[in-house]
Amino acid sequence: MDATKIYPRTGDHQIVYLKNVIDSTQISVGDYTIYNDFYNDPCKFQENNVLYQYPINNDHLIIGKYCSIACGAKFMFTSGNHAKQSLSSYSFPIFFEEWDLPANNICKAWDNKGDIIIGNDVWIGYEAVIMQGVTIGDGAVIGTRALVTKDVPPYTIVGGVPAKEIKKRYSSNTIDKLMQLKWWDWPESKVKANLENIMSGCIEKL
Ligand SMILES: CC(C)(COP(=O)(O)OP(=O)(O)OC[C@H]1O[C@@H](n2cnc3c(N)ncnc32)[C@H](O)[C@@H]1OP(=O)(O)O)[C@@H](O)C(=O)NCCC(=O)NCCS
Repeated sequence: MDATKIYPRTGDHQIVYLKNVIDSTQISVGDYTIYNDFYNDPCKFQENNVLYQYPINNDHLIIGKYCSIACGAKFMFTSGNHAKQSLSSYSFPIFFEEWDLPANNICKAWDNKGDIIIGNDVWIGYEAVIMQGVTIGDGAVIGTRALVTKDVPPYTIVGGVPAKEIKKRYSSNTIDKLMQLKWWDWPESKVKANLENIMSGCIEKL
């Protein structure tokens, strides 16, 4: 096991340990979180999948450990969100030279909704879009092509446009136990020793 490598599967260059292909200070990713891409180079996640995250706005994408992010999932940041207090949707502050506006007012071009935070063990489906300011709880599942505009509680499966709850992933008892266990924070050796019980759903044996 080596969480510092880029490709976790021998001969497979479509899946990467995401953490190891990110160099932006505005993105942080936990160990073992994977990204799969069969259209583009998965190493280009930062360029292709994290949209409108301008350094001047200093908003962050924070992704936990053991997440699975499917091909084409996108994280849509504030700078794509034209300001609504303006009487026009045109981004005059960005074209400050053209309109003789102060150069330090660029951030007025958009409404700032803040960071996107993804918990641990989250599965994000094919071509889902996560909007700015959204927090997704541990263990949540985001369905194919969902448009996530609101926070998603832990271990909740959501889908649709805008995304709504489809169901909980487990009973509330099991969810409570998982949230207490936080197995993703265990050392690698302990996860390995408990894999059979994790994979077979035997929470009482963990
Ligand atoms: C969301 C998902 C996990 C639900 O799977 P499931 O638990 O087996 O759910 P079901 O197929 O029984 O569907 C349950 C309900 O959710 C709806 N639903 C399922 N997937 C949906 C989606 N992506 N968006 C909106 N609604 C969805 C179904 O229509 C059904 O609705 P109903 O109760 O009104 O009949 C699954 O459909 C999905 O989208 N998985 C992601 C697959 C993917 O993108 N993989 C990429 C490679 S990792």
